Amino acid sequence: MTQNQSPPETSLTDQVGLTPGLRRDARRADDHAWIEVIQRMDDIYADLVHYQVELEEKNSQLEDAQSFIQSVISSMSEILIVCDINGHIQQVNQALLDNIGIEEFRIMGKPLSMLFSEKFLPMVADIPEHIRSGSLIDCEVDLANSKQQPVPMAINCSARFDYDDRLSGLVITGRPLGELRKAYDELRHAHEELKTAQKHLIQSEKMATLGRLVAGVAHELNNPISFLFGNMHALNGYQDKFKIYLDAIHNNVGEKERETLRKNLRIDHMLKDIPPLVEASMEGAERISEIVQNLRVFTTPQESKKQSFDLISVLKRATKWVLKATTVQPDISEHYPERLNLINNEGYVHQILVNLIQNAIDAMQQVEQPKLDIILRQDKKYLHIHIHDNGHGIEEADLLKVFDPFFTTKAVGRGTGLGLYISYGLATEQCQGNLSVQNHIDGGAEFIFSLPLEDRA
Ligand SMILES: Nc1ncnc2c1ncn2[C@@H]1O[C@H](COP(=O)(O)OP(=O)(O)OP(=O)(O)O)[C@@H](O)[C@H]1O
Ligand SMILES: [Mg+2]
Repeated sequence: MTQNQSPPETSLTDQVGLTPGLRRDARRADDHAWIEVIQRMDDIYADLVHYQVELEEKNSQLEDAQSFIQSVISSMSEILIVCDINGHIQQVNQALLDNIGIEEFRIMGKPLSMLFSEKFLPMVADIPEHIRSGSLIDCEVDLANSKQQPVPMAINCSARFDYDDRLSGLVITGRPLGELRKAYDELRHAHEELKTAQKHLIQSEKMATLGRLVAGVAHELNNPISFLFGNMHALNGYQDKFKIYLDAIHNNVGEKERETLRKNLRIDHMLKDIPPLVEASMEGAERISEIVQNLRVFTTPQESKKQSFDLISVLKRATKWVLKATTVQPDISEHYPERLNLINNEGYVHQILVNLIQNAIDAMQQVEQPKLDIILRQDKKYLHIHIHDNGHGIEEADLLKVFDPFFTTKAVGRGTGLGLYISYGLATEQCQGNLSVQNHIDGGAEFIFSLPLEDRA
């Protein structure tokens, strides 16, 4: 009897006509058989339910795995094409569809060659052979878009194997070349820009150095030229007066008139003044020629020529130079001996002193009773020249900046901010000395110019 058969209406024992006792026994045996059959059916049904539950669980795991793979594939920015062993398209991703602009249903199951531009078809035909021989393909090709226009791609083909490790097709991944080329072009462009910016930087650095050099030379020439100019101006005035006096003599004026002229025109004073004026002008001209000759000092540091000189006369000359060109005439207290011989570069020492005294005079422009203290002090190694004015002093924050090139607190056109920068360079590098600054406790600024004594003559 099969599981589907139901018990007959009359049993076999009824049909064969047994005795009532035998019939009872037979009926009992019949019932027992039916109970066994029903129990077996119950067991089989329970097994079936169990298999069904297991199957459903596995199915849901499979679905999860599939949707995970799908989400990974569709979020890839690289294109993906999966083919079977005969080169028919089995799967593609959204990146490919976006790049070629063709709907998925138009390419599924179709030959791989339909995705490529005509000129790459021979190469596509060779792909399966390459895959079978186990060689990877890495190349640049043109895919064809919906309008049959080329879409350049860098692709990579590799073999695909099934769970039995049998070759079952191929996988192509790739990246649009346009994107790579664009990135490369941008990189090259950025590199070119960087190179140009670098060239400009070098050029502007050169120009800045040149500018500093020219400004520095102009700054240092300014003092001797204005001094020379002042002297020439005085001599020019003398010349006019001498002409008047000599014309009178040539016209044979009387002695009395001549003497009056001599007195009024201050002829004797002029005669006395001419030699120092000429001498000072010669000095000024010498300084100019020295500065021009030493032009290289501003570009390449070099050892200067040192000789013995009297510091006191250099100090007096520097003071005279500055005071001659200004209306500020301070009360000067000079605390120093008659003579003091040093071995150093006289020209540079003079240049530095002129810059320091000029700055002191500038700082005292608004001071009612300008006062300049010049004090010499010496220790074992150095002679220190203190130049202290009673001007406005220097802001604490600016004390460190005053030696920087182009630092100035003077109005535009009044100062270049190069005086102390040049002086510091000359003092430390050319004179082997030092230059420092502080605000004096009695007010005003105090500059200390130190010169080495070991070479003292
Ligand atoms: N004796 C001083 N008292 C107060 N401030 C000073 C004194 N000496 C220098 N300074 C400050 O230092 C700055 C820089 O001086 P520096 O001689 O280098 O340039 P500058 O005098 O401004 O310009 P330039 O020297 O070209 O005329 C000045 O602008 C000023 O602010
Ligand atoms: Mg100055």
